[in-house]
Amino acid sequence: MAFSDEWSGADPHEAAEQEYLRTLVQAEADGDDRAVEAALRPRTLDEVVGQVRVRDQLGLVLEAARQRGRAPDHVLLSGPPGLGKTTLAMIVAAEMQTPLRLTSGPAITHAGDLAAILSGVNEGDVLFVDEIHRMSRPAEEMLYMAMEDFRVDVVIGKGPGATAIPLDIPPFTLVGATTRAGLLPGPLRDRFGFTAHLEYYEPGELDLIVRRSAGLLGVELTSEGAAEIASRSRGTPRIANRLLRRVRDYAQVRADGVLDRKVARAALELYEVDELGLDRLDLAVLDVLCRRFGGGPVGVSTLAVAVGEERETVEEVAEPFLVRNGMLARTPRGRVAMPAAWQHLGLTPPVESFGAQQALFDE
Ligand SMILES: Nc1ncnc2c1ncn2[C@@H]1O[C@H](COP(=O)(O)OP(=O)(O)OP(=O)(O)O)[C@@H](O)[C@H]1O
Ligand SMILES: [Mg+2]
Repeated sequence: MAFSDEWSGADPHEAAEQEYLRTLVQAEADGDDRAVEAALRPRTLDEVVGQVRVRDQLGLVLEAARQRGRAPDHVLLSGPPGLGKTTLAMIVAAEMQTPLRLTSGPAITHAGDLAAILSGVNEGDVLFVDEIHRMSRPAEEMLYMAMEDFRVDVVIGKGPGATAIPLDIPPFTLVGATTRAGLLPGPLRDRFGFTAHLEYYEPGELDLIVRRSAGLLGVELTSEGAAEIASRSRGTPRIANRLLRRVRDYAQVRADGVLDRKVARAALELYEVDELGLDRLDLAVLDVLCRRFGGGPVGVSTLAVAVGEERETVEEVAEPFLVRNGMLARTPRGRVAMPAAWQHLGLTPPVESFGAQQALFDE
């Protein structure tokens, strides 16, 4: 082990630190988040910040169901990590004043797992299936029968001796969440009466979220401090809350505890999150792309080697945000730096190269 470390020249401390810095702007939850998230989650639709259209539509679905005294239609929540899918699922149960049963796609590997869950469902319960696109195919088929007919056939035994025992399920509401709606098979998707697609949040909305969280955590945050954190949160409440916690640490240890603009800026600089929310990896990708490869096009594997990262990390962690920000484009011939990237690095884009890049989009 020591031998291979020596060879790779890897410093475990540096690796751990880099990993930590990276998780700061990743939209996925880590252990630290999960504990705090429970405390910061809005509990009613009224407490939800932003997502105005989804909130209105979902509110109407729930209100109508309440008036009819029935379980609401099945709800599908889709959208990138950290935007509030789990939060909304919990709110559906809370607003209907019914228990929430929670499971996730990867936990349902056999149809039998799902049958066991369904057999425990009571009338009006909300069954939340997180990462619903990761359920096994047989379970998926059982689920859409349950959603439509409120019954399933449980197959006992194998081969010619197998028998199907019908199981009636009381009317319930399925709430599915997915970051990859495109991976859901059509028949399953079609059985949701209401589909909500969550969008990234505007800075103003993130501002409200950060202030609300600061209130709940009992920290003093100025409006400029809030704006500073909000503008670097990549449109994602989970990241906003995480940055808030790091700024709070800084304020507590190195300042007087008040999260103002100066403290927020200093803290986020320390954690290497820049004005737009770009972290060290994002900047490294842009830097290599512009300075070393003249703006591209360059293949993602080459890019990954050049920044010393795994291809997956570059593709799944750095690129989505850079693409959304209009800094990087994925073209059939490779990655290309857009004018915004050059500008952000304080460089002048070579004119002729951008003309050549334009041609790539016409392919
Ligand atoms: N609209 C909102 N208003 C206020 N806070 C929010 C909102 N949406 C999300 N949050 C905060 O962000 C955190 C993450 O949200 P949530 O866990 O619901 O995301 P998710 O979409 O389920 O993510 P994942 O795909 O990783 O499961 C929550 O704990 C909550 O504090
Ligand atoms: Mg979730």
